[in-house]
Amino acid sequence: MAKKHKVGIIGASGYTGYELIKILCKHQHVELVVLNSESYAGKKVSELYPDFLDEKITFTNYTIYEINKMKLDLVFLAVPHTTAMALVPKLNCKIVDLSADYRFKNPKEYEQAYKLEHKDRKTKAVYGLSELSKKNKTDIKNAKLVANPGCYATGMILSVFPIQKLANYIVFDCKSGWSGAGKSSIYAKDASVIKNNIVAYNLSKHRHKYEVAQFIKTKFSFTPHVIDTFQGMMITAHLLLKEDKKNQKNQKNQNLTQTQEKMKQKVIQIFKNHFKDCPFVEISDKIPDIHVVQKTNKLIIGGFEIDENNQMVIIAVLDNLVKGASGQAVQNMNIMLNIDEKEGLI
Ligand SMILES: NC(=O)c1ccc[n+]([C@@H]2O[C@H](COP(=O)([O-])OP(=O)(O)OC[C@H]3O[C@@H](n4cnc5c(N)ncnc54)[C@H](OP(=O)(O)O)[C@@H]3O)[C@@H](O)[C@H]2O)c1
Repeated sequence: MAKKHKVGIIGASGYTGYELIKILCKHQHVELVVLNSESYAGKKVSELYPDFLDEKITFTNYTIYEINKMKLDLVFLAVPHTTAMALVPKLNCKIVDLSADYRFKNPKEYEQAYKLEHKDRKTKAVYGLSELSKKNKTDIKNAKLVANPGCYATGMILSVFPIQKLANYIVFDCKSGWSGAGKSSIYAKDASVIKNNIVAYNLSKHRHKYEVAQFIKTKFSFTPHVIDTFQGMMITAHLLLKEDKKNQKNQKNQNLTQTQEKMKQKVIQIFKNHFKDCPFVEISDKIPDIHVVQKTNKLIIGGFEIDENNQMVIIAVLDNLVKGASGQAVQNMNIMLNIDEKEGLI
């Protein structure tokens, strides 16, 4: 068997860090040698996460100097934004950053969205959403630093990207499991806050809106909600479709249902063509729910219903911790290290 790639995680004790540990421990082509955690260094992973059955694996706390001496092939940064930008310039290997620090092409846009100064304006990253285009996937392959997309952003972009030009306006109504807020959030500290509840927040100016606007050029709105589940998210995209003048004459001879069905099938075909080489994206004419994607790297896009106001409703589901974070990060690592894109992922 070929030599395994040596990889590490900084921020290994957090929710996305733990998801990375689970995936990487089963990965055939990598050896996980750094599991850095300032708070849990020296402790077993199973002490913090009792469902983790391997008693041997412990958190580490190597310095950056020591990590660089180990000559790792790749490091995952599963730390909050601002922490990542302090680490990236110091690391001498390939990096997948799960934070938002390098997701904006223009650091000024990051500064506006996050209301802080970017301390590393020089380092350029590739946005790690391989399903955007063949070029993007090639860029990921050649990148030293990949900025892993946000969870909402992954769902919003992919749910409309292939047909954004058909719409005048898009409304994204999104729901996420509470792990999306990380392990220091109010939901992790006090379960009663979210029990039997739905919490809307950042009604019109969530930071992911500006991340998405780099790729979705049709005007849009976005409102997120936290729901009473640990992991999994749903994007409900309402697209106000442009009038199809070319087909208007033909449409006069058809009833509304026939016209809507024709449009639905046309859109499904566009999605199927766009994602035909994307192993983790499924297109369905049914309405998907989050049970089918939880703990997987799948993103299912379905629904595609049109109403009498020419509004199309698309539903996308994904797991915020997997396709929205750690699974996508491993998918990007596989592409960067020339490993089968699907390795270690379901
Ligand atoms: N949760 C999601 O669904 C999701 C989805 C997409 C992207 N992300 C992004 O992925 C990154 C990690 O998210 P997460 O949900 O795993 O967060 P988390 O549960 O809060 O874990 C973050 C980890 O980073 C370490 N850390 C290092 N410096 C820190 C600092 N200054 N303040 C707090 N923690 C620090 C902590 O570990 P030690 O104290 O043990 O070192 C902590 O366990 C974030 O940038 C987040 O925005 C998260």
